[in-house]
Amino acid sequence: MQGKRVLLIVSGGIAAIKIPEVIRSIRKLGGSVRCVLTKGGEQFVTPLSLAALSEDKVYTDLFSLTDESEMGHIKLSRDADVLMVAPASADILAKLAAGLANDLASTVLLATDKPVICVPSMNVRMWEHMATQANVQTLEARGVTFIGPVEGDMACGEYGMGRMVEPAEIIQGLKAFFYDTPRPLCGRHAIVTSGPTFEPIDPVRYIANRSSGKQGHAIAAALSDLGCRTTLITGPTNLADPVGCDVIQIETAHEMLAATEAALPADIAVFAAAVADWRTSGEAQEKIKKQPGATPPSLNMVENPDILKTVSASGNSRPTLIVGFAAETNDVLTNASEKRARKECDWIVANDVSPETGTFSGDNNTVHLITDGAVEDWPRMTKTDVAKQLAGRIAHYFEAAE
Ligand code: CTP
Repeated sequence: MQGKRVLLIVSGGIAAIKIPEVIRSIRKLGGSVRCVLTKGGEQFVTPLSLAALSEDKVYTDLFSLTDESEMGHIKLSRDADVLMVAPASADILAKLAAGLANDLASTVLLATDKPVICVPSMNVRMWEHMATQANVQTLEARGVTFIGPVEGDMACGEYGMGRMVEPAEIIQGLKAFFYDTPRPLCGRHAIVTSGPTFEPIDPVRYIANRSSGKQGHAIAAALSDLGCRTTLITGPTNLADPVGCDVIQIETAHEMLAATEAALPADIAVFAAAVADWRTSGEAQEKIKKQPGATPPSLNMVENPDILKTVSASGNSRPTLIVGFAAETNDVLTNASEKRARKECDWIVANDVSPETGTFSGDNNTVHLITDGAVEDWPRMTKTDVAKQLAGRIAHYFEAAE
């Protein structure tokens, strides 16, 4: 980040205590930081500590005569390569969306002609509130970049979406902002399904499969890195939410279908989830008990909806490019090609999931990309690299179509 100048606006939130680490990291990478601290931010970090770490004056007051004589708020807002609001409270997002300018931070944000990055941090209910979501949408449509938030434990004792990403991820996001400038999928929306589904048998038991979600999550992250607004719809996994994606957690195939349909319209849909093909015909409302001497209960199975097939046949709301996955243990290419035709998707990524390949829980994958009339054999590589290569191919598809 050599020579890059960041105007860091620190608003009120407990996550402000992580900001000193962000300043240290930017400076270690050769960048410079100048801080604006809101009244709320001052409750969590002091101007003195930020001044010591940034080795610069910290600006707090809109009407400070000394500050105005040294550096007016207009100059302050433009004397940087990027403005980053971290933590960005619900209040400052609302002010920015509404165009308010009643303190130094909001005035600087309104007066700037530089790109703005927001790193939200707030309680889950505040983040999920329709007002905040509408503000985020407005800001994204105006070109504001968001890093996070993520799901996790909150200082208030609750759990959910709204937690600020860790300093390392802020730095990663800043680097991506400065250096990964080609964002060919900017303005497009992708839906990615990932992980297994859990189909309940009774309140304590369920049917599941061995999918780790690693491949689907990596694809969501890779699409997001290319500037694509990405909705990740995932079954239960042990993975962290990919930075920058909207993540919707579901359990059953029915919930995954409903979430996918609700996320439409989209330009791109990648179905990497290992959806359970069957569920029990009726979930027992109480735990099924062992009966002494009785034969074990049998499960009556019914077929789950096929999400890929349903979306492929969804007429007007069909995404332009639909990519399915084919998890096979034998006759991989033949089965996958048939699956592509049967499910009416545009491309299919075929992979061998026989136990000896270690694909299901491992970090590597050997895949074949089947497109219209062509089969590409990709060498064995990490799931992250498969994701990057696939995202690159998707970007190329849209570039070629323009
Ligand atoms: N898929 C889906 N909904 C289902 C089943 C599968 O969306 N109910 C999607 C998967 O996400 C994947 C593709 O369909 O993109 C193929 O999944 P796979 O498990 O390989 O095939 P199945 O349709 O389940 O067929 P089979 O198990 O017989 O191979």
